[in-house]
Amino acid sequence: MEKTLWQRLNKPIIGLAPMDGVTDVVYRTIQKKYGNPDLLYTEFTSVEGICHNANRLLRDFTYTEEQRPIIAQIFGSTPEYFRQTAVLLCELGFDGIDINMGCPAKTMHKQGSGAQLIRTPQLAKEIIRQTRQGITDYENGMRSKDCPDLSPRIVEEVKKRNKEVVNWPEKVALSVKTRVGFNEPITKEWIQALLEEKPEAIALHGRTLKQQYSGLASWEEITKAVEAAKGTGTLILGNGDVNSYQDAIEKVEKYGVDGVLIGRASFGNPFVFKKEKQDINIFEVALEHCRLYEETYKDAGKNKFLPMRKHLGWYVKGISNAKEVRMKLFRAENTKEVEGIFREFKLI
Ligand SMILES: Cc1cc2nc3c(=O)[nH]c(=O)nc-3n(C[C@H](O)[C@H](O)[C@H](O)COP(=O)(O)O)c2cc1C
Repeated sequence: MEKTLWQRLNKPIIGLAPMDGVTDVVYRTIQKKYGNPDLLYTEFTSVEGICHNANRLLRDFTYTEEQRPIIAQIFGSTPEYFRQTAVLLCELGFDGIDINMGCPAKTMHKQGSGAQLIRTPQLAKEIIRQTRQGITDYENGMRSKDCPDLSPRIVEEVKKRNKEVVNWPEKVALSVKTRVGFNEPITKEWIQALLEEKPEAIALHGRTLKQQYSGLASWEEITKAVEAAKGTGTLILGNGDVNSYQDAIEKVEKYGVDGVLIGRASFGNPFVFKKEKQDINIFEVALEHCRLYEETYKDAGKNKFLPMRKHLGWYVKGISNAKEVRMKLFRAENTKEVEGIFREFKLI
């Protein structure tokens, strides 16, 4: 029997949560190198966009071999587009495909995707079935060139990247990431509905959509999912407010999850995944992040360094003169300037 990534990973699994605008290929490289989470996800990407020739979205699907196991996360509301995008993702060599059913973004409300799917469980289930169908179609020899809504431009790019894949997964996994409810928690019935489609794993953020990121995640709700999934073979990862390796282990033991995803606590701190304190200067890591960022996005235009500044703000969080340093960093245009500021404040 071929194994998916979920069957191969040792438990508890401690992964880096997908975060749009944060967990790009560069962030993942740094987190993997210095924190070594068991699992990485891409930022979410729209299947409608992919199937309407938004070639630029393929950038979200960039990864390196060191990042395995790597999961591509997608969102949308059109089951057929999920099927075709699944074929494309298999061809790109991803270890897994994750369907986002938890994002609260306003733009998703209109579309009926993300957390809106909690309100339309029949559609959510059809989306899982069609994504699974895409994986099966790929196994049966279908490729992106055979998908009616994938443009020749996208097909061409996929073909090129396909040749660069080294370590192919034995079998591509399918998972879902969601929240415990829309307005109120409905964990048991919602998770039961998803379980009928047998995803290999469900990552559950212990907040409702209405809560967005306020209050605390309810791990009691997450336990209800653990109960519902018992004996089904589907793994449950808990998510929400985990802030250290020790915290992750405590949550696993207390709530019975198969693992956890850590999101915000990884900002400027890849060591969050490590059991032991690391004897590495975090500002050297920040510089490496800058260098790799510049190199990766060298063709990205005039303001290309701008998105890097938020990471720099996170790296200096907690130092005594953070405010002063941050003000300078927020004007930095390149790695060299960042290095100068770090030296000025004797951080390196
Ligand atoms: C900036 C940001 C972007 C996010 N983008 C995504 C996303 O693309 N896909 C997703 O499933 N969740 C996304 N999330 C939710 C996180 O994956 C995670 O569920 C949430 O932050 C709670 O975990 P934490 O308390 O460890 O941060 C995002 C969260 C943040 C803060």
